Amino acid sequence: MDGAGETAGNKAMAPQDRLSAELAEDMAAVNALIRARMASEHAPRIPEVTAHLVEAGGKRLRPLLTLAAARMLGYAGQDHVKLAATVEFIHTATLLHDDVVDESQRRRGRPTANLLWDNKSSVLVGDYLFARSFQLMVETGNLRVLDILANASATIAEGEVLQLTAAQDLRTDEAIYLQVIRGKTAALFAAATEVGGEIAKASAAQITALRDYGDALGIAFQIVDDMLDYGGSAAVIGKNTGDDFRERKLTLPLIKAVARATPEERAFWTRVIEKGDQRDGDLEEAMTVLQRHDTISACRADALAWADRAKVAIGKLPPHPLRDILSSLAEFVVSRVA
Ligand code: IPE
Ligand code: IPE
Ligand code: MG
Ligand code: MG
Repeated sequence: MDGAGETAGNKAMAPQDRLSAELAEDMAAVNALIRARMASEHAPRIPEVTAHLVEAGGKRLRPLLTLAAARMLGYAGQDHVKLAATVEFIHTATLLHDDVVDESQRRRGRPTANLLWDNKSSVLVGDYLFARSFQLMVETGNLRVLDILANASATIAEGEVLQLTAAQDLRTDEAIYLQVIRGKTAALFAAATEVGGEIAKASAAQITALRDYGDALGIAFQIVDDMLDYGGSAAVIGKNTGDDFRERKLTLPLIKAVARATPEERAFWTRVIEKGDQRDGDLEEAMTVLQRHDTISACRADALAWADRAKVAIGKLPPHPLRDILSSLAEFVVSRVA
């Protein structure tokens, strides 16, 4: 394999970089496969749009999770590369669709595809990538894997639709928020780790532990993403901040602020979120209110609690250098700034 143990001990590197270093050979194969399969001979718009997004990079966190799960459970074949590419294709497809739905203008440090081309291209190329992902996973011939990834794809779409109907509604509470992020984000993290265990023929208990790890990690990851939307650096995260506010999404920082609102603040939230009457300076005002109630710290505490759950889950697997990196990754995603 990729020399597990050599760089795993390098505690100075961020866990995600250690994961990339450990799995560099596998990841190079994943990237080559992604490049080979994102092309289309018949519609040049497809490689244009996919190359724009794929070549911009991205953290490749989900395929790394699949590779790590398979490797740490002793998988010696090559299907984990196909599955990791499948997972990244599904992710890329959802990003194309998500940026249309959210009317976002920046992704991975570049203008979004919907801005550079148009919504039609983003939706259709997203569909194409979904279909490509299914072709890839079928090549593994593993029905359990197909089941897991097909379910995850349906759950992601459900999460995005639930979010759509919860937006602009100040009654959205933390339970609904959890349902949304578990669907739109954690489902793919959980599937990414679960399929790795599945092809490695791990035991039922190990596969459950992998799935629980991915689920909790994904939840922590999305809570932090939602915190970064109110105060992260656009240059560092490669996306515009304030998108959620503009889209009137009830994300965790806002839900906590609404729960603690004074009558005056409540009137502010009603105007900007429910009525959508947003004026210059409102985003700054929203951030001041969030600070007043310390909601960002409260969100960080929730994210840390999910990171702890992720660590407990991964701790149920046999000792392995990759297991230790995945364990550190849980805390790392809470402190991430990009
Ligand atoms: C973005 O995911 C979508 C969310 C679930 C917040 P990432 O932050 O993993 O995106 P890339 O792949 O690194 O660009
Ligand atoms: C991302 O949700 C989830 C999916 C892509 C399905 P967000 O809309 O919160 O993520 P960003 O901020 O656009 O990356
Ligand atoms: Mg979005
Ligand atoms: Mg976001």
